[in-house]
Amino acid sequence: MNLFLPSLLLTVSLNAFVQAAESPVGDPVAGQAKTAVCGACHGPDGNSMVPSFPKLAGQGERYLLKQMHDIKDGKRVVLEMTGLLNPLTDQDLADIAAYYAGQKGSAGAADPDLVAQGEALFRGGKLDQGMPACIGCHSPSGAGLAAAGFPHLSGQHAEYTKKQLTAFREGDRTNDGDTLVMRTIAAKLSNKDIEALAAYIQGLH
Ligand code: HEC
Ligand code: HEC
Repeated sequence: MNLFLPSLLLTVSLNAFVQAAESPVGDPVAGQAKTAVCGACHGPDGNSMVPSFPKLAGQGERYLLKQMHDIKDGKRVVLEMTGLLNPLTDQDLADIAAYYAGQKGSAGAADPDLVAQGEALFRGGKLDQGMPACIGCHSPSGAGLAAAGFPHLSGQHAEYTKKQLTAFREGDRTNDGDTLVMRTIAAKLSNKDIEALAAYIQGLH
């Protein structure tokens, strides 16, 4: 009998158990009380009114938590948030992620001149250059895949999205993991492509 598979499964499930036991479960009610300072920029319910400050409302819990840890650890540089997360514990971050994930994200309006180009790229990618469609990971509605940590994009401020895609392309944002998933994709995008995608995403809901 092949003992490899059962022992592999046991290892995997033990790992899952250890991880679950280690990472705190977020409490959205406790989280709301911890977001007073965040609301000044991100909006009280996470729907920021300022286009350079990202909307957090309705964003996936796993993605939010990862970004907060990355910002706290300096793996992602957000000057506006320097030092802000230092006093927060892992439990605080989990609570805050649970709170914003439970809020409803607001929609925006797309620039009508750019929407067709943006939609074509979002849904079709650039197959001739080996660039996959965005919908493969971020879903056709832009809702993302929360369990996998693929972020929700729809309704996000175009200015913020444009800055992120440019930062991935230029290597100024590098927290997309060892697979370089977003850096590889953004490398195939021109400034015009980024403009069109950001406009389309802002109006997507
Ligand atoms: C002074 C303004 C400001 C305050 C206060 C602030 N942030 Fe931010 N935050 C920003 C900016 C600006 C960015 C995006 C930076 C960039 O362009 O990459 C950001 C990014 C983020 C992101 C990543 C969003 C994404 O879609 O990837 C998270 C999560 C976040 N902030 C959480 C928080 C939390 C939690 C607090 C409160 C403890 C907070 N922020 C307070 C300005 C602020
Ligand atoms: C193979 C999966 C995959 C594909 C395809 C993909 N993405 Fe992503 N994207 C990700 C992952 C994973 C992240 C989160 C990286 C991290 O943890 O910081 C991300 C992050 C982003 C972000 C940052 C979100 C934020 O709130 O800061 C934007 C914007 C984005 N992607 C846009 C796109 C666009 C536009 C396309 C198509 C041109 C695309 N993505 C294709 C997996 C993908």
